[in-house]
Amino acid sequence: MKTTIITGGSSGIGKYTALGLAQKGFRVIIASRNEKKNQDVAEALRKDSGTKHIYGMELNLASFRSIRAFAKSFAQRFGKLDVLVNNAGLYTSDFQLTEDGFEMQIGVNHFGHFLLTELLRNLLEQSNDPRLVVVSSISHLKGKIDFDSFRQKKGKYKGLQAYEQSKLANALFTLEHARRYPQIAANFLHPGTVRTPIANKHSKWWISLGWTLLKPFMISPEKGAQTSIFLASDPSLKGQSGGYYDDKQRKRNPAPLAKDKTLAKTLWAYSLKAVKPYLT
Ligand SMILES: NC(=O)c1ccc[n+]([C@@H]2O[C@H](COP(=O)([O-])OP(=O)(O)OC[C@H]3O[C@@H](n4cnc5c(N)ncnc54)[C@H](OP(=O)(O)O)[C@@H]3O)[C@@H](O)[C@H]2O)c1
Repeated sequence: MKTTIITGGSSGIGKYTALGLAQKGFRVIIASRNEKKNQDVAEALRKDSGTKHIYGMELNLASFRSIRAFAKSFAQRFGKLDVLVNNAGLYTSDFQLTEDGFEMQIGVNHFGHFLLTELLRNLLEQSNDPRLVVVSSISHLKGKIDFDSFRQKKGKYKGLQAYEQSKLANALFTLEHARRYPQIAANFLHPGTVRTPIANKHSKWWISLGWTLLKPFMISPEKGAQTSIFLASDPSLKGQSGGYYDDKQRKRNPAPLAKDKTLAKTLWAYSLKAVKPYLT
């Protein structure tokens, strides 16, 4: 039985990715920050999928300490990993810091997943079809990397700009991962504009209202999960790495900046240095 971790599997796209992969016979670990929610969702999905192999485990991507504790306890409990789905993400209108002093969106969406992937790679490498699936966004096309903004507020905080930056970081990370570790099929995706609470959780009220009003025009979380499920499980993707896929599972051209190898290397070096104390 193949084993997959889905970060942010307790809500939205991640929840339906968990359901879809469980229905395909995967053992699924839902890894998110709210342990009660993880357990409730895992129980509901066990019922919906008719399989008992869905588990919840606590993982706070805004804390390097929590990420290391999760990786250790996952390795002890399950001892194998075939597919890592880096799906969790947040949007926030307000400047906040992670436990380790990073701006929240780059901290959770990029640095947290960077450390998680570093800690789990040795398990992935033991699989005969290892895959890394990264849920980025079409908004990576507008992203720019400003290293000075990673730890400090520069002028007025612009939530959308920080989100776009974090989604570009997802793209740069995936493509650099594909170059460094070609034995792991690493691909990233845009899930569509999906009816989830992402912009209702930490947004100014008018952004939250706007998002709610647009919901009837968005695709369902079940549909939004299809590209993640495809990249995680489709046999045609075995060994296929370094791709960017849209919500209809079509391969697309990423942003020119996402393909900038120098930028990717610099971001990788910065990230490695940032998480270094937590690698052992
Ligand atoms: N919805 C869209 O239209 C859209 C479009 C493009 C890309 N995306 C991407 O899709 C991914 C999933 O988003 P979604 O729309 O499904 O939103 P969502 O329903 O809010 O789900 C996000 C998940 O990430 C978890 N999460 C947030 N902060 C975390 C942390 N510090 N540690 C661990 N888990 C954390 C959330 O936990 P809680 O439930 O506790 O908050 C939740 O399980 C994100 O990466 C997002 O950027 C979404």
